[in-house]
Amino acid sequence: MARILPLEKALAPAIDLIEAGHVVAIPTETVYGLAADATNGEAVTRIFEVKGRPRFNPLIVHVCDIGMARRIAVFDDVAERLAKHYWPGPLTLVLPLRDDHPIHPLVTAGLETVAIRMPQGFGQVLIEKLGRPLAAPSANSSGRISPTSAQAVADDLGGKIELIADGGRTDVGVESTIIKASEGEVRLLRPGGITAEEIADLLGATVVRGGSGKAVEAPGMLASHYAPDAKVRLDATMLHDGEALMAFGPHRIDNADRALAMLNLSPQGDLREAAANLYAHMRALDRSGSATIAVEPIPAGGLGEAVRDRLARAAAPRDAGTLIPE
Ligand code: TXA
Ligand code: MG
Repeated sequence: MARILPLEKALAPAIDLIEAGHVVAIPTETVYGLAADATNGEAVTRIFEVKGRPRFNPLIVHVCDIGMARRIAVFDDVAERLAKHYWPGPLTLVLPLRDDHPIHPLVTAGLETVAIRMPQGFGQVLIEKLGRPLAAPSANSSGRISPTSAQAVADDLGGKIELIADGGRTDVGVESTIIKASEGEVRLLRPGGITAEEIADLLGATVVRGGSGKAVEAPGMLASHYAPDAKVRLDATMLHDGEALMAFGPHRIDNADRALAMLNLSPQGDLREAAANLYAHMRALDRSGSATIAVEPIPAGGLGEAVRDRLARAAAPRDAGTLIPE
């Protein structure tokens, strides 16, 4: 079983393990990541093995500063502005790879672009000490719920990895926002911790939803994703027998008292709090043993876009490979 160590004790062994080509689970401000040396093919292979992740789905490269990012990818004006404003933080940029980049091709699944972000806190320090970029997907089995605590990582992957750095519960609770800016167009490939409205305001530009429809430019776009064992039913207006309830806000649906178990994403109806609670509540309601988790309606604006996106994927039919239509 993996050792779970507090951050100050985890740093030295994490460096040793990663230098030896192993994977380590680390906290970031969004969710826990499964980190390995992005320049080492064997190490990157281990990430795919531990997660059971399809190899056509590329990984995010994490850097400690913009200098490291510029040695990997080509930054245009828009990318520079976004990085300066949001890094370190929950924003991932999809950018053209440089010809002389050091990233192993397995990380990018052979694409000519790379997804890069600069995490805050422990991840940033770790990368600085290592002096090289880390590839890190969320630290969960492929298709399952992303972990927002060290214990959630241990429950899912504890038997397959050696070390989990424990930074407590993550702040944001959903994955980073993924933006692709090219040819004068800003595309939102995955809604996340920073809202599309905020980015549109900063740039004074329109943010287009979804990829261009080519290849797996669509990130985490396999329809079934972030899925608990229970079925998930969205926009519930009443409860059926045997359902658990994921509530939102101060007002309950009519027959809420029938719920086998109930948790509220945010009693005050605050979307930031709802995002932070989403995965932990989904895991807890799944453990209640109900066959279905019914979810009260979540408003669409701001962080609601990321919360609704993750819920839609949790509710999607479970035959992996179908894409959520854009
Ligand atoms: O918050 C996060 O972003 C977390 C933490 C650990 O950093 N990481 C994360 O990684 O969510 P992952 O691997 O679970 O999701 C990365 C997504 C994938 O869905 C992948 O398709 C997309 O990024 N992606 C990676 N490279 C890409 C590229 N070149 N073009 C388009 N999408 C890409
Ligand atoms: Mg993931």
